[in-house]
Amino acid sequence: MLRLAVLASGNGSNLQAILDAYEGGLLRNLQPVLCVADRSCKALERAAAWGLETVLLEGKHNGEKLSEALGRQLSDRRIDIAALAGWLSIISGKLTREWTGRMVNIHPSLLPEYGGRGMYGEQVHKAVLDAGEKQSGCTVHFVTDSIDGGKILGQSRVKVLKNDTPDSLAARILIEEHQLYPKILADLTDSFTAE
Ligand code: GAR
Repeated sequence: MLRLAVLASGNGSNLQAILDAYEGGLLRNLQPVLCVADRSCKALERAAAWGLETVLLEGKHNGEKLSEALGRQLSDRRIDIAALAGWLSIISGKLTREWTGRMVNIHPSLLPEYGGRGMYGEQVHKAVLDAGEKQSGCTVHFVTDSIDGGKILGQSRVKVLKNDTPDSLAARILIEEHQLYPKILADLTDSFTAE
């Protein structure tokens, strides 16, 4: 079994979807063992309620120091795969290089569109609506030192509706995220164990 850490900063609905998928047997070769958060958040509560070990890297950690502390947590707990699920802090190039091919992220747009620094949460959906896009969606990709720029592992699409607000679009995309992320994690880790 490969060991999964989920990195979160917010509500943790993607964390929950991953935990539910594990319980449903979808994550055949991957066991959630750790949740790391960079701030106090609902995701940590969900993780603790499920019985996951939780780590809060708050306050004294920022920038490079946060990445160093994160790297230590991941290696101390012998983590194989790190899944960013609403994680908002920038991860240093040093750490992303150490984790090449083993650190993944979910982003609420059809990358490479609407990604990069400052593009997270509501900003993304607002930009999509302002541009009059006909469709949007979500993307799971490898994390590299280029923000939201790593190899794409999978995408789901949704139609943008005439009366969409950033909130309504975000909610429809989130439903797709909850399906896509566990599936990509399962496929990725199947490919590891087949090697
Ligand atoms: C999700 O929509 C995720 O794609 C997005 O934050 C939300 C977290 O929701 N991530 C980003 O914008 C990262 N650039 P959750 O905490 O309920 O999983």
